[in-house]
Amino acid sequence: MNPAIGIALLLAVLQASQGQKVTSLTACLVDQSLRLDCRHDNTTSLPIQYEFSLTREKKKHVLYGTVGVPEHMYRSRTNFTTRHNIKVLYLANFTTKDEGTYTCELRLSGQPPTISNQNVSVLRDKLVKCEGINLLAQNTSWLLLLLLSLSLLQATDFISL
Ligand SMILES: *[C@@H]1O[C@H](CO)[C@@H](O)[C@H](O)[C@H]1NC(C)=O
Ligand SMILES: *[C@@H]1O[C@H](CO)[C@@H](O)[C@H](O)[C@H]1NC(C)=O
Ligand SMILES: *[C@@H]1O[C@H](CO)[C@@H](O)[C@H](O)[C@H]1NC(C)=O
Ligand SMILES: *[C@@H]1O[C@H](CO)[C@@H](O)[C@H](O)[C@H]1NC(C)=O
Ligand SMILES: *[C@@H]1O[C@H](CO)[C@@H](O)[C@H](O)[C@H]1NC(C)=O
Repeated sequence: MNPAIGIALLLAVLQASQGQKVTSLTACLVDQSLRLDCRHDNTTSLPIQYEFSLTREKKKHVLYGTVGVPEHMYRSRTNFTTRHNIKVLYLANFTTKDEGTYTCELRLSGQPPTISNQNVSVLRDKLVKCEGINLLAQNTSWLLLLLLSLSLLQATDFISL
């Protein structure tokens, strides 16, 4: 096989992992707190800005983040933790007044900036109890992606050149 095609494929695989996308946003309940798990790619060393917000009755409220200024009434109720590819926000004392659409957004500076977000609609009655953060599943999916890329390259004879 033509090595140029192998290289083009390799670049395509690398490029696909360049975007700093929000891959999922899930909501669950721990005690009386709402927990939002925002999973995202972590493939760049460029500075990342993020924002958690709630849209309720067409009005957007910033809960936490480095983009907009969090509203005072939420500031005392939130706590935030981050790991390399997941951001977790807790909102204490969750009630039906906090129902609405929650958004996790990432912004990657650049020209133009890249914005990626995910929404989750949250209703008090529909919320499930949280299970532990499944980091293993996250790592496994990366491993799978890697193996997939490798087998793809192998299939094109790139490795045996
Ligand atoms: C949650 O509500 C309880 C009871 O009203 C209050 O004591 C507590 O300070 C609240 N927690 C937060 C983080 O606002
Ligand atoms: C954040 O809030 C959750 C739920 O109330 C609690 O389990 C967790 O310990 C808190 N974390 C920090 C760092 O305060
Ligand atoms: C990506 O991972 C590195 C190393 O774990 C961490 O320092 C960095 O803050 C992460 N980036 C984001 C956007 O979470
Ligand atoms: C999330 O909601 C915002 C505001 O309604 C919208 O602009 C955005 O496209 C939505 N994102 C996704 C991934 O659906
Ligand atoms: C997943 O990866 C992170 C960082 O690469 C590591 O700190 C963590 O221990 C891993 N978790 C598991 C369950 O392997």
